Amino acid sequence: MSKCLMNLIFACAVAALPPAMHAADPTPAPVAAPTQIIVDMARNKPISPDLFGLFFEDINYSADGGLYGELIQNRSFEYRSMRKKDWNSLSFWSLVQSEGGKGSLAIDEGIPVHQRNPNYLVLEVSGPANGVGIANAGFDGIPIKQGETYDASFFARQIYAERRNESRADIEKRPMPVTVRLEGKDGRNLGEFSLNIQGMDWKRYEGSITSTGSDDAARFVLLAKSRGSIGLDEISLFPRATFKGRKNGLRADLAQVIADLHPRFIRFPGGCLVHGNGLSNMYHWKNTVGPIEQRRQMPNIWAYHQSMGLGYFEYFQFCEDIGAKPLPVVAAGVSCQNSGYTNGHGQCAIPMEEMPAYVQDVLDLVEWANGPATSRWGSVRAAAGHPEPFGLQYIGVGNEDHITPEFRERFKMIYDAMKKAHPEIIVIGTVGPDAAGRDFEQGWKIAREFGIPMVDEHYYKAPQFFWNNLSRYDKYDRAASKVYLGEYAAHDDKRRSTLRSALAEAACMTALERNGDVVSLASYAPLLAKRGFTQWSPDMIYFTNTSIELTVNYWVQKLFFTNAGDTCLETTPSQTGTPADFAVSTVRQSKTGDVIMKIVNGSPRDKPLSFKLQGADNLPVEASLTVLAGADPSAVNDGKDATPTLPKESVLPVGPGFSYIAPANSLSVIRIRAGGKPISAIKQSEDTAR
Ligand code: AHR
Repeated sequence: MSKCLMNLIFACAVAALPPAMHAADPTPAPVAAPTQIIVDMARNKPISPDLFGLFFEDINYSADGGLYGELIQNRSFEYRSMRKKDWNSLSFWSLVQSEGGKGSLAIDEGIPVHQRNPNYLVLEVSGPANGVGIANAGFDGIPIKQGETYDASFFARQIYAERRNESRADIEKRPMPVTVRLEGKDGRNLGEFSLNIQGMDWKRYEGSITSTGSDDAARFVLLAKSRGSIGLDEISLFPRATFKGRKNGLRADLAQVIADLHPRFIRFPGGCLVHGNGLSNMYHWKNTVGPIEQRRQMPNIWAYHQSMGLGYFEYFQFCEDIGAKPLPVVAAGVSCQNSGYTNGHGQCAIPMEEMPAYVQDVLDLVEWANGPATSRWGSVRAAAGHPEPFGLQYIGVGNEDHITPEFRERFKMIYDAMKKAHPEIIVIGTVGPDAAGRDFEQGWKIAREFGIPMVDEHYYKAPQFFWNNLSRYDKYDRAASKVYLGEYAAHDDKRRSTLRSALAEAACMTALERNGDVVSLASYAPLLAKRGFTQWSPDMIYFTNTSIELTVNYWVQKLFFTNAGDTCLETTPSQTGTPADFAVSTVRQSKTGDVIMKIVNGSPRDKPLSFKLQGADNLPVEASLTVLAGADPSAVNDGKDATPTLPKESVLPVGPGFSYIAPANSLSVIRIRAGGKPISAIKQSEDTAR
């Protein structure tokens, strides 16, 4: 008998038991009368096709050392000291003098690879012995896997050493032999290649290594093997197996768990990172496109370095690779109001005389993304390998800014220019950092006054806030601006990921589905956090160099993303309890015809339900049932725990009227497949096909 069939028989038997026998408890609690839920197939509302997406911010080492596949840290010697970090151009590099070799390292900026990438390393070898060079241990070690291929590249030039009285011709006659190697933490050589550096002009060199062993914390070593000086810059190492095999690509396993969510859009590059820590720290998209050695790097507001290797091209490409719409956010001409942890300067505004150029930068972004390959900025995109337009549809302007006269004036300049030049783009305004209050009200006032198509709301609140606000959007004016709930997360005690927080988010998501005609987009925040480098918690996905931990909040997001619909069917009641501890929504997916219910039981008791599907015909006899439930809703549930809460799949007998017991502390997704075919038959034929 197939496993599927056995599951089906078991699940049907369990589902058919009277409620009190559902749990293994020998002294079952008295069972409440079932709550009747009526789904009216004829009463429905459209849901935004892009409702559920992602918020990516380069916070918590999400980009460099995270999603971006680069394995070398400080690859172009541009690190500098910043809050709590005593970094400099040589940070994360060390001098290697092999078997009595003699040499030195210095930083120069006389003749850089590119003026936007000013620093480079000068390696002088006075006594080569078995090689003199540099080593880099990446982001807390370089994870290497046996049999995998790693692509190394760097820019180099021979350097004229005046004191040796050599001419350019003399030097170029004697190329510098160099060996590049991966070294295990025990010093083991995991593979190497050699080449000659020849010429006093910068050239790009590359080679690859297929590793002979695995090591979770290897290092990269480059050794020069004869007397002389060389300049080195943009020293890079990537696994060949990046996500979709892209050059300058993304870490495959991390990109894959993001792709598995099937987000409808991705917002990037932040958050507060966008408007930055003062004007000099504002994020400018033009600094992040073009060849990587020509990108202007800088610290981010979260006080670590951005190589900009994961730049606008890579963000857009990733969106395209996983079928998500790109949602770039640009600053509204003002910096973050919380700027100035060093000098307390607060919100700063771009001087008015510089605003026309800034507004033009925003317009140029649309040309870069959507313009023909022959246009000024479209040609930059085409040169990067993407002649076709990216199909940009949304742009966020501003991020939870303090709504001041300076903000208002600059936002209006950008908004008016966009409306005139690109009426096809949906501009998303901002209404401050909270669900209510002065900035929220002022932001909404501006939205109404200017007729902004959509605004970005943010709230990080206790789980109870989400349960208390399930009706929030029921009351929103359908003729006013649409809502992008751009950052939200339930923050439980000590800001830990818990099932309680995830269920509060799930309840909120049922309300978003019910209000999918006014809430157009929504994204949990933040997405990624590297263990040991986490500045904000909770986050949806945690990772180390070699592992990925999916929180219970990730599973809630995934269940909603992969069971989204484009029509919401009226479901009554949509919530119960005072305060509410139960929420339900029903959607239909026109592509498949499937009807999908999400049922959130936030109470500590099983909840018997009796469903009536009014106006449903041709229903199958079974639905797929996915349940995310746990015994202790307050326990940490961030993917690192011994027994993480994971969704469990089974089948449920259904019909125009059917019963279901929603387990205590659970999210259940009931998916009734269209076409009347029993699900066991569908599953069996899928098994046979495999
Ligand atoms: O998501 C983390 C931060 O929270 C974002 O940068 C900011 O927009 C919000 O305050």
